[in-house]
Amino acid sequence: MLITIADVLTAEEVAHARTILDAADWIDGKVTAGYQARTVKENLQLAEGHPAAVKAGEMVLAALARSSLFVAAALPLKVFPPMFNRYTGGGHFGTHVDTAIRAFASTGQRIRTDVSATLFLTPPDQYDGGDLLVEDTYGLHTVKLPAGHMVLYPATSLHRVTPVTRGARVSSFFWIQSMIRADGDRTLLYDLDTAIQRLAKEFPGNPIGVQLTGIYHNLLRRWAEM
Ligand code: NI
Repeated sequence: MLITIADVLTAEEVAHARTILDAADWIDGKVTAGYQARTVKENLQLAEGHPAAVKAGEMVLAALARSSLFVAAALPLKVFPPMFNRYTGGGHFGTHVDTAIRAFASTGQRIRTDVSATLFLTPPDQYDGGDLLVEDTYGLHTVKLPAGHMVLYPATSLHRVTPVTRGARVSSFFWIQSMIRADGDRTLLYDLDTAIQRLAKEFPGNPIGVQLTGIYHNLLRRWAEM
């Protein structure tokens, strides 16, 4: 499932994050790329644990915690500390799949990357190119979102970022280990959740809502890994 979440960060938060990030020193993005990805990656990143990344990352994590759509769609168990990248001057990232297991630089704790996230921090009219292209069985999805909006997609997908030919594209990217490993199971739970919310809105107090909520939780109980 590919889902976009609007206004994860407010305009003020985006501006604040950009002030912090734009003043920081960026390094070659190849440092976090695996063997295959390294050959196709041409961008800049903030080092893991860089004070600017930590500060802006805390803003992102706080925003995720208040997003009910993020929680419903990702069913997060662990969120990798948000990282930040910058594409400019033809910078791009060729087709790759994200590394399956990543370790937190600070603690060494490992996370399985089930869901990939990109949170856009530059208004789309300020750069050309820089489209995120995600392949799935339904074809190719092109993603370029307003600043403060985020896309979630299965970390199992092949994806790429097209060259930025004008301006600079700054984003936060990170991964989520979900309580529900398989994208298909997670999508099913999200669809059921959405239907329950709709029922509650259109037919408030309908007892079928209780029954369906019970089924949702019993599926979650059956499938969740903690
Ligand atoms: Ni990637």
